[in-house]
Amino acid sequence: MRFFLDTADLTEIQEAVAYGILDGVTTNPTLMAKAGVSDPESHYRKICEIVSGDVSAEVIATDYEAMVEEAKQLANIHPNIVVKIPMIPDGVKAIATLSQLGIRTNCTLIFSPAQALLAAKAGATYVSPFLGRLDDIGHDGIALIKQIRLIFDNYGFETQILAASIRHPKHVIASAEAGADVATMPFKVLQQLFKHPLTDIGLERFLSDYRKHLESTTS
Ligand code: G3P
Repeated sequence: MRFFLDTADLTEIQEAVAYGILDGVTTNPTLMAKAGVSDPESHYRKICEIVSGDVSAEVIATDYEAMVEEAKQLANIHPNIVVKIPMIPDGVKAIATLSQLGIRTNCTLIFSPAQALLAAKAGATYVSPFLGRLDDIGHDGIALIKQIRLIFDNYGFETQILAASIRHPKHVIASAEAGADVATMPFKVLQQLFKHPLTDIGLERFLSDYRKHLESTTS
């Protein structure tokens, strides 16, 4: 399973790259605004220079022709850019055109298996089901991943499932169990994946036992 960071914060991306386990980055207009980005093009270029892997950059346009035009500009920034297109009829149409032009896409705001199937049929490189936002309204985000996995496997779709809107480590593990190809997560969730109290207690005990042993052999 590949791990992407869901952020536009360069410091977070640098720290995650240093762990040696980061495979890419996803951004969205909210995250770009949160990072205070004033020049998106140069910001995407910086992200692509920090991480070696796919970087999702989302279009702002919402009509077919403007989305295709914006997608071409975004894809020109760097070979690792994947253009994020919203799940709306014009978006699916744009994905189909971009797919024929060889421009890779990530269909975002996926909340149902029907939407994932439409995006896959249009040739999307990734679909992004939003787990957390489904859970927020009392639905089951992981069940959606399982349904999409089944459908894609039934028909041999190569579109990859990118589990998004991840809120905690259980989402990451359940997505892995359900066969998602990628999990994109906030930096905080990536850090939480390392944590287990028994690891901290165990390490402390190993070191303290060894210190005692050293003291007893040198006294
Ligand atoms: O980038 C899309 C998605 O991961 C957003 O997550 O937490 O805003 O629902 P969230």
